[in-house]
Amino acid sequence: MQSNLLNKLHGDQRLVGDCVGDIPSATDLAGGKLPVGGYPTGCRSGTVPACQPAASECTASGIHVGIIMDGNGRWATRRGLSRIRGHEAGVKAIHRVVQAAPEQGVGTLTLYAFSSDNWRRPPAEVAALMALLQFYLANEVKSLLRNGVRLSLIGRRDRLPDGIAVAMARAEAATADGKALHLRIAVDYSARVAILQAAAQASGMSELTRENFSRLVTGEAGLRDVDLVIRTSGEQRLSDFLLWESAYAELHFTECLWPDFGSDDLAAALAAFRSRERRFGGLQPFVSERALHQT
Ligand code: FPP
Repeated sequence: MQSNLLNKLHGDQRLVGDCVGDIPSATDLAGGKLPVGGYPTGCRSGTVPACQPAASECTASGIHVGIIMDGNGRWATRRGLSRIRGHEAGVKAIHRVVQAAPEQGVGTLTLYAFSSDNWRRPPAEVAALMALLQFYLANEVKSLLRNGVRLSLIGRRDRLPDGIAVAMARAEAATADGKALHLRIAVDYSARVAILQAAAQASGMSELTRENFSRLVTGEAGLRDVDLVIRTSGEQRLSDFLLWESAYAELHFTECLWPDFGSDDLAAALAAFRSRERRFGGLQPFVSERALHQT
């Protein structure tokens, strides 16, 4: 059924010879095949910055980056392709960014794949996105394991098509020991719902602190707050993504459409982030010193 929907979305359009390379067709998806020759390493030239912390230490010491992967539809439309082609190319961008993230000092990467408001999209597009998620869970775990990536899914699981919740749990269990990167994919996710659920759970607690409320919101003890939120495609809003965890996040907006995003774009976002002065409501130490001694 889903592959039929995918076929309808595709029509007879095929991607040929641009930077995206081979993407799984509707038939490939139905058969669970990986793209021929694997995924490309990136569609832009340029150097990848040297590893910051050792990859094995990344989960513990690396920063937390959240990405709102926007612009798949426009990317496809500009090429005269169906929107689903854009989402397929978006999956390949995920692969590139997951590969690049640990080398660039990212320890936790949260990707916004499907918001709870995305159910409003046409049923055929929703079905195609769910099929892509199923494809990802079925085919990407080996690569995640090889690269030491721990996968978690956040968001509601009870409204997903049959089989996806089970596939999610399997992928999470298989990758649970990954130390190079904690990859979190948000599916049927709403930050406000996560906060509301945490509030409901917190109502019986005797001591409510930011830390224990964070654990309720994120479902994890000790999850690092988001350091940087990146949104692609030129849009500048948060769209109900990680609202609690991003209280002091830096924001980076880029015109790049998600399917074009690669390791160089991640490096550019991180360079901009590292050039910023983060004060968390305080002052730079030397400013406080000088101000204290001024008459
Ligand atoms: C926004 O682009 C993107 C989405 C709503 C879906 C993101 C999904 C993927 C990258 C692929 C599926 C994910 C997994 C983990 C398999 P848009 O469609 O709103 O783009 P537009 O604003 O140009 O229309």
